[in-house]
Amino acid sequence: MDLKQLIKTSATQLELAKLAYGHGTFNAQDEAAWLILWQLKLPLDLDLSEDLLRIQGQVSALNSSLHVTDIAPAHLNACQALIAQRIETRKPAAYLTQEAWLQGIPFYVDERSIVPRSFIAELIADGAFDGWLSETSHTFLDLCTGNGSLAVLCALAYPDIQVTGADISAEALAVAKINIEKHHLSDRIQLVQSDGLQGLSQKFDCIVCNPPYVCEASMLELPDEFKAEPQLALAGGTDGMSFIRQMFKDLAQRMNDQGILVLEIGNEREHFETAFPRLEAVWLETSAGEDQVLLLTKEALLQVFANQ
Ligand SMILES: C[S@@+](CC[C@H](N)C(=O)[O-])C[C@H]1O[C@@H](n2cnc3c(N)ncnc32)[C@H](O)[C@@H]1O
Repeated sequence: MDLKQLIKTSATQLELAKLAYGHGTFNAQDEAAWLILWQLKLPLDLDLSEDLLRIQGQVSALNSSLHVTDIAPAHLNACQALIAQRIETRKPAAYLTQEAWLQGIPFYVDERSIVPRSFIAELIADGAFDGWLSETSHTFLDLCTGNGSLAVLCALAYPDIQVTGADISAEALAVAKINIEKHHLSDRIQLVQSDGLQGLSQKFDCIVCNPPYVCEASMLELPDEFKAEPQLALAGGTDGMSFIRQMFKDLAQRMNDQGILVLEIGNEREHFETAFPRLEAVWLETSAGEDQVLLLTKEALLQVFANQ
């Protein structure tokens, strides 16, 4: 069996098993290619055909001219075992490979933190909120840092900043530490265990935050792949706004005068606008649309939360 045939038959198996995606790929074909290429230690952006293979943050081309006719039996068995494991466990592929890619940057991941996939990563890469920053914006906070991916991406994108990554989970922070060391950023990113903003005393120029925001009704319908992730990272209470509501009470105090918050809220825009009808948010466009990530200035926050 050649590489293309192996990916094709594996994709068919994944398709028949009716898996859920969204942890780096969005369909069976890309998921199969990712797992097989990883297992064979081939680059994920290997040319395999003319079709585009999209692995979040990585775009690779499948080139029909490439035929790997001799996949050794031991390698073939290993690939088939990995595909079977994906089907049987329903765990996200990244937990099986312990590797996730975001904006072309590799991250270590295991079940102590969620798989990196925040849309804020796109905005950092595109410089989408640069217009709200200035030459004096040096202090960043990645609140709910989890695996540390957003802290790392911020530090890589802005070489002059210092980043604090905060999370309530010691287990997630252990994963973040691995990623910070992997990217040699220990001198620019510090980790703090903190329940919301409580453990922080500094003020920041820019706060990025991908908090737990999944509402109760959606939590009940999560596919197994998402149930394999720490529920603390996902569950946002009845309307998904529990963490955010609490955070807003103290947020302005943790921001410098020109400070901004870049906040991901997933599919919860309706709940967000119902909970905070007077907040003047700027909605930032990502590949998922204009409803997933918003920006708030300190000024906008103070207009609503000044007396709390
Ligand atoms: C959606 S994950 C985001 C992880 C990472 N920033 C990313 O984008 O991949 C949310 C994170 O919030 C953390 N978290 C949940 N409740 C928290 C709280 N009260 N204070 C601080 N962090 C909290 C979880 O441990 C989890 O790591």
